[in-house]
Amino acid sequence: MVNLDIVSPDLQPDRNLAMELVRATEAAAIRAMPFIGHGDKNAADGAAVDAMRQFLSTVNFSGVVVIGEGEKDDAPWLYNGEEVGNGRGPACDVAVDPIDGTSLTAAGRQNALSVIAVADRGSMYDPSAVFYMDKLVCGPDGVGVVDIRQPIGENIRALAKAKGVSTSDIRVAVLDRPRHAQLIEEIREAGAGTRLMLDGDVAGGVNAARYESRIDLCVGIGGTPEGIITACAVKALGGVIQGTLAPRDDDERQKAIDAGHDLSAVLEANDLVKCDNTYFVATGVTQGEFVDGVQRRGPIIRTDSIVLRSKSGTLRRVRADYQASRWV
Ligand code: FBP
Repeated sequence: MVNLDIVSPDLQPDRNLAMELVRATEAAAIRAMPFIGHGDKNAADGAAVDAMRQFLSTVNFSGVVVIGEGEKDDAPWLYNGEEVGNGRGPACDVAVDPIDGTSLTAAGRQNALSVIAVADRGSMYDPSAVFYMDKLVCGPDGVGVVDIRQPIGENIRALAKAKGVSTSDIRVAVLDRPRHAQLIEEIREAGAGTRLMLDGDVAGGVNAARYESRIDLCVGIGGTPEGIITACAVKALGGVIQGTLAPRDDDERQKAIDAGHDLSAVLEANDLVKCDNTYFVATGVTQGEFVDGVQRRGPIIRTDSIVLRSKSGTLRRVRADYQASRWV
């Protein structure tokens, strides 16, 4: 028998909630599968939401959705404020994105994920003030090296130096949007390569922070909720996330100021999630760089997921085979 007394207190084994949450993202991906490439993103999202909610109700925890499918009146399930879990166990904030990349799913394109992030109750930043955030995400090499307030060229050069590579080896993921035209130009002027994403900057951020990824940095303006979800993953991966709120117009700017937000503040991982106990699970809906998409293989449906936990600093890859006949 292993003597646990000699194991450092940090490594004392305890429950990894994410190992149970992964069943919910697996179910969401399986239920979304018939809609991949069929042009109806709402149908795909609806199927994923229903499945995720059912599976979450079996997990021993007392969750409140703080980032969900919107307000109760517009979203029948997984709306902000909804209680999830069976009510027994730790009190948690829950952020769900049943499909990050609904348009990718509808079009049959790569990089759509089903995602859940969980942290201690009251620890997640309230993303309601401003829809978009300007973000910078990279892996552990960038700690103390990159700074979102600096021009992108300087960050690329600093990160290349920290990694001991040339700037031409640096690959930067950016959402392919007109608002990023200048940013993309500056990345290329600095000598780095771009990986333009049609959608799905959670996958972009996780890839940037992940060891062994072909992406070094993920930058640009994307959803604030996606930033908080990514922060839960970054805490487990040990990298960097920095963000500044990016209001769409004067009205949103004023509302954020009235709500007490400092628009010039750089929000780091500890501002986006104020605890060291985060979980992140993601299952591939369509094919991606770090997980395969859900697929039917004869009598089975195969899912591929990653399971991250900040307390232990672990990343697990979970492949599951489901008997397809039970899911018809
Ligand atoms: P959904 O699939 O949930 O709609 O989000 C996709 C997404 O690409 C996010 O990953 C990203 O943060 C956001 O949309 C970017 O917003 P926009 O499409 O307005 O640029």
